[in-house]
Amino acid sequence: MTLARTRPLTVAPPDTLADVSFDEAMEARIEEILAKYPTRQAALLPLLWLCQDRWGWISPGVMRAVAARLDLAPAHVAGVVTFYTMYQTTPPGKYLLQVCTTLSCQLCGTSGLAEHLREKLGIGFGETTPDGRFTLLDVQCLGACGEAPVIQVNNDYYTGMTPEKLDELLDGLQ
Ligand code: FES
Repeated sequence: MTLARTRPLTVAPPDTLADVSFDEAMEARIEEILAKYPTRQAALLPLLWLCQDRWGWISPGVMRAVAARLDLAPAHVAGVVTFYTMYQTTPPGKYLLQVCTTLSCQLCGTSGLAEHLREKLGIGFGETTPDGRFTLLDVQCLGACGEAPVIQVNNDYYTGMTPEKLDELLDGLQ
């Protein structure tokens, strides 16, 4: 049985996100989100998450569309997007490998895992493999310290990681 269970991200190319409008399906999801919050501004984070789930990242065009939809200043939306590391502002690879580098994971061997990934993939933190398959990021505590070291791949957590388990994981990703 393979360790990997993560599906690849759908990543829109930059030229398709230069000027964004929401289709009927997205509008329906946006209305669902808006219904849960007292103000439009309060719905900003989940709306950005919805966009990232659809397109894989948040382009300036997406930021402008979200700002217009929520009646917010584009600069405010850009400030929020760039504040939170969970939002990607450049197109990631199909698999976003997020390595927790906070204390509990460090004590349990994260440095060795990061080095293993660098050697195996030939990229450092913040970089994407030339084939567009993997992006490597270092992130702060993922909230699963009891099962350190932890790596998040797209939306899935992989815990108690070792170099051997990493190899099995990477080999199993489609
Ligand atoms: S320190 Fe890594 S999950 Fe908390």
